[in-house]
Amino acid sequence: MTPFKSVAVFISGFGSNLNVFLQRKTLFKQLQVVSSHSNAFGLTRAQEAGVPHQVLSRPIAWAELSKSLKDQQIEAIFLAGFMRLLPAEFLADWSESCFNLHPSLLPDFKGLQAIERAYAARADIGVTIHRVVPEMDAGEIILQETALRAEELEGLSLAEVKARVQTLEHHLVAEWIQRFCQS
Ligand code: GRF
Repeated sequence: MTPFKSVAVFISGFGSNLNVFLQRKTLFKQLQVVSSHSNAFGLTRAQEAGVPHQVLSRPIAWAELSKSLKDQQIEAIFLAGFMRLLPAEFLADWSESCFNLHPSLLPDFKGLQAIERAYAARADIGVTIHRVVPEMDAGEIILQETALRAEELEGLSLAEVKARVQTLEHHLVAEWIQRFCQS
């Protein structure tokens, strides 16, 4: 496949989902990493993979960031554990082309601690990739899959459930990348 797509992955922390992008870096014309935190481990991953990365200023200069990504012909933004809400003005520049990974079967369990809350409620557990709109964890669902049905939770610890979710996240991110690169 000719690498002609350009994407920016926004992170704040560990970056295991970013790693799915880094492992496939040759598929992209450009892959860039943008972090809200200077100590995010994902930055180390980007550095080791030789992928351009930047840490956002505080306060974040959203208009500047948007312009710089556009100037570099970035076509899509993928939020992989990015812990900041994107302002509506920023999103207006990226309507249709900003995506988020969320560890629940949206619209259930929006927001933080989604796995913990779904586990406590003994609900189905899963993963969603959706378009980003100003309202948190809303927006058109692009990919969604169940990791564990409620009845399968019996006897599983929260840590085991989280591990299953993480595996499914990596799988869905890989699928999103494949679709994006072929679109
Ligand atoms: C993932 O669970 C993602 O769904 C959520 O933040 C977590 C990021 O994990 N939005 P990692 O940094 O990619 O390992």
